[in-house]
Amino acid sequence: MSALSFYVHVPYCLRRCGYCDFNTYTPTELLHNGTLETVSGDYVDAVIREIELARNYAGVEVPSIFFGGGTPSLLPAPTLGRVIEALRQGWQISEDCEITLEANPDSVNSEKLIQLREVGFNRISFGMQSAKAHVLKVLDRTHRPENVSIAVEAARSAGFESVSLDLIYGTPGESLEDWRFSVETALALGVDHLSAYALIVEVGTKLATQIKRGELAMPIDDLMADMYLLVDQLCEDAGLSWYELSNWSKPGHASRHNTAYWKNANWWGLGPGAHSHIDGIRWWNVKHPTQYTSALLAGNSPEKDREVLTHSQQSDESIMLSIRMKQGIELSTLAPGQQDRVEEYSRSGHLDRDRWEQGFLQLTPQGRLIADRIVRELVV
Ligand SMILES: C[S@@+](CC[C@H](N)C(=O)[O-])C[C@H]1O[C@@H](n2cnc3c(N)ncnc32)[C@H](O)[C@@H]1O
Ligand code: SF4
Repeated sequence: MSALSFYVHVPYCLRRCGYCDFNTYTPTELLHNGTLETVSGDYVDAVIREIELARNYAGVEVPSIFFGGGTPSLLPAPTLGRVIEALRQGWQISEDCEITLEANPDSVNSEKLIQLREVGFNRISFGMQSAKAHVLKVLDRTHRPENVSIAVEAARSAGFESVSLDLIYGTPGESLEDWRFSVETALALGVDHLSAYALIVEVGTKLATQIKRGELAMPIDDLMADMYLLVDQLCEDAGLSWYELSNWSKPGHASRHNTAYWKNANWWGLGPGAHSHIDGIRWWNVKHPTQYTSALLAGNSPEKDREVLTHSQQSDESIMLSIRMKQGIELSTLAPGQQDRVEEYSRSGHLDRDRWEQGFLQLTPQGRLIADRIVRELVV
């Protein structure tokens, strides 16, 4: 193995947003009258124990470390720094290793951002979601629109080399003009990277209940498509090019960590519910933070289960992941039957004609809207 990325899951949020079903818990969900300090007390000790389990791979290059959540920015910078330090004990973490923190815009201030830089973070990704207060309200977010510019400016002053924003489109009640305003506001902040995700209604969330009761209505597909095409156009005009279906960046600012996932590289996911993938073997940890922490502190592995990917699973996954990337799929890696099934899309404007001639399947903006349909043709 030549390289191994690390993901560190931080499973805490002060309040759960109505649309989110990520593996995250509020202090009171974990403990009656719990505070963040009481519920997260020995969490980092457990993560550091899990790092010990990865020592078999000590010495290989670490291109990226990503702290995601949950809300990693809730933990104190020195606590997060202990994890980076533990990784430095086993691996040579070079200057250009991308070390990202996911952050809620209202969970950082200038002082904390400076400390985060000091402990080693060089990239930060803020969950902006929208610049419109009425959209943030439906999403049940804790921050106000103005928190985002304050956080981005403070991150720049603290010396973050790469700043990213996450946006969500298709929130009930959001118009195309609302969405234009959000994207333009994000781009006007001069960020290096933007992610834009269509709102997914996850089963069991508050949002799903509100929709079921008829209190909120999801937008029609045509509006969602217009929103996608608009963000693509505005990003390209502002000098951020698409490099993955939902991600745009300035040159040199594509997320190295997410690219590792999309290229099916090797990564170790630390934390409850985290998934890992090394050379065709995938495993995942127990989901609950208490179970995770007690397993590790008792000297046991937190692994819940694992699977060895078959050759055909690996090839299907490679198609599903690489079609999302700008680079696309090299036609020579497809069987003749697969190429025949998708060739019509190169004539209908869904696949880039010139790239097809050069031997690559690359989606056009219209093609990205139907990426799932094209994948189904390829993996039948
Ligand atoms: C799990 S959050 C972690 C970062 C941070 N807690 C936050 O919310 O900003 C990462 C991103 O996932 C996206 N996300 C979560 N649930 C989603 C959903 N149901 N539909 C679309 N995007 C979602 C949001 O854009 C969010 O910024
Ligand atoms: S803050 Fe982020 S992780 Fe937490 S509930 Fe909201 S979207 Fe999910």
